[in-house]
Amino acid sequence: DESGQPMTALQLPELLEPDSESASEITYTVTAQAGETAFLEGKTTQTLGYNGSYLGPVLVVREGQEVHIKTENQLAEATSFHWHGVKLPSDMDGGPHHPVGPNETMQVDFTVNQEAATLWFHPHALGTTAEQVYAGLAGLIFVEDDNSDQLDLPKDYGVNDFPLIIQDRTFDADNQFDYAGTYHPDGTYGDTLLINGTINPYVEVTNEQIRLRLVNGSNARNYTFGLENGAVFHQIASDGGFLEQPVALTSVTLTPGERAEIIVDLSEYAEGDTAKLMDGNATVLSLNVTEEADAQTALPQTLNEIPELVTDGAAVQRFTLSGMSFMVNINGSQFDMDRIDVEQHLNETVIWEVRNAQDMMGSMIHPFHIHGVQFQVLSRDGAEPPQNEQGWKDTIAVYPGETVRLAVTFSEKGVFMYHCHILEHEDNGMMGQVSVQ
Ligand code: C2O
Ligand code: CU
Repeated sequence: DESGQPMTALQLPELLEPDSESASEITYTVTAQAGETAFLEGKTTQTLGYNGSYLGPVLVVREGQEVHIKTENQLAEATSFHWHGVKLPSDMDGGPHHPVGPNETMQVDFTVNQEAATLWFHPHALGTTAEQVYAGLAGLIFVEDDNSDQLDLPKDYGVNDFPLIIQDRTFDADNQFDYAGTYHPDGTYGDTLLINGTINPYVEVTNEQIRLRLVNGSNARNYTFGLENGAVFHQIASDGGFLEQPVALTSVTLTPGERAEIIVDLSEYAEGDTAKLMDGNATVLSLNVTEEADAQTALPQTLNEIPELVTDGAAVQRFTLSGMSFMVNINGSQFDMDRIDVEQHLNETVIWEVRNAQDMMGSMIHPFHIHGVQFQVLSRDGAEPPQNEQGWKDTIAVYPGETVRLAVTFSEKGVFMYHCHILEHEDNGMMGQVSVQ
């Protein structure tokens, strides 16, 4: 292969064994720890992970279920446990207000108040998010509900349903992650793709519909995924749940923090064939067909019902993203934990108008993320958003010079963060807080 690395079977995050479970309640333990991971031949790499040496497990929860997570920090430094995309009380959110020191624990309790979706978790301590995520701290949350139970979609984990956490890293001559040596205040990029911590991965599959849950877990890199042969695939879910109908695409762009679930139909493939998921010219994943399916299933034509948030007469709150490097800011201010930037009422729908004030110095896409909520995209520069953005989102790419309008309704009280999900921009203060009362 072009990378010179041998193909390796895709690492699959384990489905975390709950400490206890009933229909109404589930309890997990999530431990941040240091470890060593064998990515390359020779020396292992020093990494961080949850319940393991790199990345973390999948927490499966159900709508309506009470969730208890005992988080533990076995690292030598403070961290926090942030539940990206989860609608939960702000004191459980795990942002910079909730640091967990070395050898400390934090109990997280909430009731799942949202529909089936692929969410994730990662650290969010003040000023150290980028470095800790880069070192390996990121895990997944799958929310299930009656709709996801009933939909005839691939859901056999590791067989026809694969999460793909896509990251880029740079290794030094000693096989260690070179964060310090490659650090950039506008986002640290790597020269090596890691998919669930695997370099140059493949999966062996049957020639059926394959579901890929794409998670851009990179610090800063944007990806445009497509199939090598340019074939159509279908996006079935955005950040916060299923789309109303599958959307036919030949490419999908994800900025840091964003997710998309896609279905790749391999029914026309024969045993021995390979389909490749690409990011431009780089291979992300090889799907090696090793078996023919007994029967083929059709993709459901209706996936979800998404109630449209009512914005007639709604207040408009404006956010301008500007600056570069250590000067990145929102509405001219950098993050201050002691300052509330915006107030909003519980259950009130407000139009958030987010503008990327393209800077003289350069032009960057800022992925704008809001905690504690799933929002709807009303428009991009006044135009209807593309079909695959007409679902629940928690992170939205705002292109240089663009203005995006969002319908935002909080269903939990408290103080929530909003920020650019380029992790170095977040750490450099491109972040604010909204108080919901
Ligand atoms: Cu995934 Cu505040 O972040
Ligand atoms: Cu940014």
